[in-house]
Amino acid sequence: MSSTPAVGTALAPSSGHIIVLGNEKGGSGKSTSAMHIITGLLSRGATVGSIDVDSRQGSLSRYIENRRAFIERSGVPLNMPSHHLVPRSALDTVEAQRQDETARFMQSLMDLASNNAFVVVDCPGSDSYLSRIAHSYADTLLTPLNDSFIDFDILGRVDPETNKVTRPSFYGELVWESRKLKALRSRGQIDWVVMRNRMSTLDAHNKRRVGDAMTELEKRVGFRVMPGLCERVIYRELFLQGLTLFDYTHPQLQRNMTMSHVAARQELRELISGLNLPQAALAAAE
Ligand SMILES: Nc1ncnc2c1ncn2[C@@H]1O[C@H](COP(=O)(O)OP(=O)(O)OP(=O)(O)O)[C@@H](O)[C@H]1O
Ligand SMILES: [Mg+2]
Repeated sequence: MSSTPAVGTALAPSSGHIIVLGNEKGGSGKSTSAMHIITGLLSRGATVGSIDVDSRQGSLSRYIENRRAFIERSGVPLNMPSHHLVPRSALDTVEAQRQDETARFMQSLMDLASNNAFVVVDCPGSDSYLSRIAHSYADTLLTPLNDSFIDFDILGRVDPETNKVTRPSFYGELVWESRKLKALRSRGQIDWVVMRNRMSTLDAHNKRRVGDAMTELEKRVGFRVMPGLCERVIYRELFLQGLTLFDYTHPQLQRNMTMSHVAARQELRELISGLNLPQAALAAAE
């Protein structure tokens, strides 16, 4: 397990709002949600910075590169985030690598937070030192969770007989450490939001069981549950063009929407509004 980072430098009070996508479980939808939040905020006219802390996969960086290529190819003037990838350090020792990566991350964070209303940080699906630092700078921490008990296990253990939560799990402890670091650094708080992802429109029984377990854990671990995204092809099929459904509101990209697209757009709107982002930053963009 990664050790706890030092308290670190406080950001200026006027800095942009920092949204961190985190979950130690791989493949839960962090990068997908990150790109939808980025494009959702951009479509409202907000300035957005983005940081990819998962340089091994670099999914968010690929998504954004695809968007840049689409803009060049099509000539459609879509808004772009200011994007930074924090590369893995090639230094010799673990300690030197940590210091190197931390310095690059802090440079990017301070730069982007002082020039944008929002900064979206995409973390890897594993515990790393850099991911811990990123968590401790979150104003909003969004944890997407696949709608299954295998994924729920990172938040809490569930008794198979009674369906009751027996105890919180290790990711909850990581968030607790992050909250402590942030409070020591700036007295700031982290609004931890858990979002269910890839929900089946058919399996009502599983949906209810996972939902009940989440409600039970919500207060014990200190997060709030937000309505999530269903499993839909539209959330993955626009990756190669670097687009999301939010871009379909652009006059040059408008097209006929299917019922599923309309339902998806509603889910996405609820995702952004459920984050309870600072109204001042959003209003300034409109
Ligand atoms: N709501 C959804 N509907 C359909 N497909 C989805 C949905 N959310 C995510 N996916 C797909 O699930 C896969 C994993 O998503 P994603 O890469 O966003 O997860 P991640 O948490 O960033 O993964 P990692 O931990 O490996 O970084 C991708 O193929 C993505 O297209
Ligand atoms: Mg990812």
